[in-house]
Amino acid sequence: MKETIKKLNKLKKEKNAVILAHIYQLPEIHNIADFVGDSLDLSRKAGQTNADVIVFCGVHFMAETASILNPKKKVLIPDLNAGCPMADMITAEKLKEFKSQYKNPVVVAYVNTSAAVKAESDICCTSSNAVNVVKSIVGGTSAENSDIIFVPDRNLGNYVRKLTGIKMNIWNGFCPTHNNFILPEYLLKAKEEHPHAEILVHPECRPEVTSAADHIMSTGIMCRYVEKSTAKEFIIGTETGILYKLKKDNPGKNFYPVSSFAVCPNMKKITLAKVLDILTNMKNAIRVSEDIRQKAYRPILKMLEIKA
Ligand code: 13P
Ligand code: SF4
Repeated sequence: MKETIKKLNKLKKEKNAVILAHIYQLPEIHNIADFVGDSLDLSRKAGQTNADVIVFCGVHFMAETASILNPKKKVLIPDLNAGCPMADMITAEKLKEFKSQYKNPVVVAYVNTSAAVKAESDICCTSSNAVNVVKSIVGGTSAENSDIIFVPDRNLGNYVRKLTGIKMNIWNGFCPTHNNFILPEYLLKAKEEHPHAEILVHPECRPEVTSAADHIMSTGIMCRYVEKSTAKEFIIGTETGILYKLKKDNPGKNFYPVSSFAVCPNMKKITLAKVLDILTNMKNAIRVSEDIRQKAYRPILKMLEIKA
């Protein structure tokens, strides 16, 4: 392990590379990353870096977003098969057909979508800024009489609709990890076992789970909240990779997952050995056609202009 990290640091210097990692990554990736964050933090970082090479430790749509924001840089992903099943639940073709059912559609695309879907959208959002993004549309004059379409996550979409009262037409997608493995009965059990713990859950969870939580937050906001909170115990309803960071940053506090089965198999495809391999051989570059890139760039940029 030590030898691998030494080689990695040498290669990073030689190639002027930066390693960005999502919070759900394995501990071995957290420990070598230059920056660990949620999808909004990572988009921002990708837009600001001076590095020539971005090694993106996360799933494909995240690396693709980094590449859309940085067409002149090389963006490498350690495993090209690290996808997001929720992102795959909508295609550009299906979105076009959905849009055709409305008179003045305005599409909000969760960043968990392909570049081709983003290219068919008006504005992107992440779980950190979805509420403000949707509010910004209603506040904007161009959206009057429009039909807001939200893709692909039904749980995040319903949460935003409930919080803002804004009517939206929501696609029926979901995250298998959050929707199928973080269940209300598990939350109830965790609550019984840790009655004094604060309950923090991700908005990709089912409504029966989010309605039983104290706070609904993106992974990055969860990490910042825990540092400031006076509570000593937390029940965490999101992918279990976050627990490593929470414990590392807050050694005096205790964290209990709602479910230890809430693992994203795609996030876990990224390993230290694969990071070393792609940086050595400069392989697995993300490619987006220039036409799609330009169209997908606008909704991402529009999102980044909005306050989280
Ligand atoms: P965050 O926006 O909290 O990083 O979530 C991304 C994601 O894929 C959650 O499953
Ligand atoms: Fe996609 Fe869910 Fe994995 Fe996030 S946790 S990358 S939404 S499958």
